[in-house]
Amino acid sequence: MLDIKVTKIAAPKPKPEGPLGFGKTFTDHMFLMDYTEERGWHDPRIQPYGDLTLSPSARVLHYSQEMFEGMKAYKGEDGKTYLFRPEMNAKRANITCERICFPQLPVEDFIQAVSALVKLDADWIPTQPGTSLYIRPFIISTEASLGLDPSKKCLFMVILSPSGLYYKDGLEPVSIWVEDDYVRAVRGGVGFAKTGGNYAAALAAQAKANKAGYDQVLWLDGVERKYIEEVGSMNIFFKIDGKVVTPALNGSILPGVTRDSVLTLCRDWGLPVEEQRITIEELAEAHRAGKLEEAFGTGTAAVIIPVGKLCYKDEVFTISDGKTGPLSKRLYDTVTGIQCGKLEDKFGWRVTV
Ligand code: COI
Repeated sequence: MLDIKVTKIAAPKPKPEGPLGFGKTFTDHMFLMDYTEERGWHDPRIQPYGDLTLSPSARVLHYSQEMFEGMKAYKGEDGKTYLFRPEMNAKRANITCERICFPQLPVEDFIQAVSALVKLDADWIPTQPGTSLYIRPFIISTEASLGLDPSKKCLFMVILSPSGLYYKDGLEPVSIWVEDDYVRAVRGGVGFAKTGGNYAAALAAQAKANKAGYDQVLWLDGVERKYIEEVGSMNIFFKIDGKVVTPALNGSILPGVTRDSVLTLCRDWGLPVEEQRITIEELAEAHRAGKLEEAFGTGTAAVIIPVGKLCYKDEVFTISDGKTGPLSKRLYDTVTGIQCGKLEDKFGWRVTV
């Protein structure tokens, strides 16, 4: 159990007004905890949100020694504050830490840090439909030296951002560009880990997609560029001829918490579900045969977002007539209903802070 020292802000900041956007404003406080080889994790503290002092030689600035998680807190109609499956994030954080040679962070400490901060800043949780308090736990290497080896000094932090829907058009279907030149990850690499470098490396393809008029990139595998992997900020699902299909976790795909929740719900509803290797050609074939019924992305920030249009080479597929399909809608309503306490939580996913 962490003994967290709390220093409160002298004068709380005004809360944001109007549409929130995603990750633009931050709450009054932040959580910090240091790690050194000699002392392990120590000095857990909550203090007013503000800038950091960091050596210009800190490893994070040179070698991207960084990991992060994405989570959300919700205010229920019963006035309670809820987290959604925080243990999955804490465990995934440790998988990332292991891959990039960061120290392990005990699951209960991770959850305690997040819960303590959310509890303190609970009056920042927005309640308008589609909004939540986005939680960003992260670890950076603060070791001030340019040598390249596992970091012996790091900083774990949690910051909070009252946020609206991730996409500017809200729940409107997004358009997706299938990227067949750049790749996101290869097996044996860091594709399964939530580390900042993965996202920085994706930006060139994202810019290319935006220039062509598309919202997001659909990544193909890094070797043959034929197997579907994931979308820029989400995992991807298809409904093909009645069956729900998503790429199997193969080491280069992020094991999403929302992905896992959607698989569980679809199986619970009795839908045929397959985690499998699927090629972009198979998807194109399904579309040409009129069997591609729906496509949607899943992610913490995005929740469930339908895909209305997909461009692969010179072919443009319109999916569900460019509208939100019934499965995407049912999943969005169910996941968000469970998250904010409106629906029964039969899988025990909701955690009261
Ligand atoms: C999340 O969905 O929480 C993520 O970390 C994706 C990020 C691009 C916003």
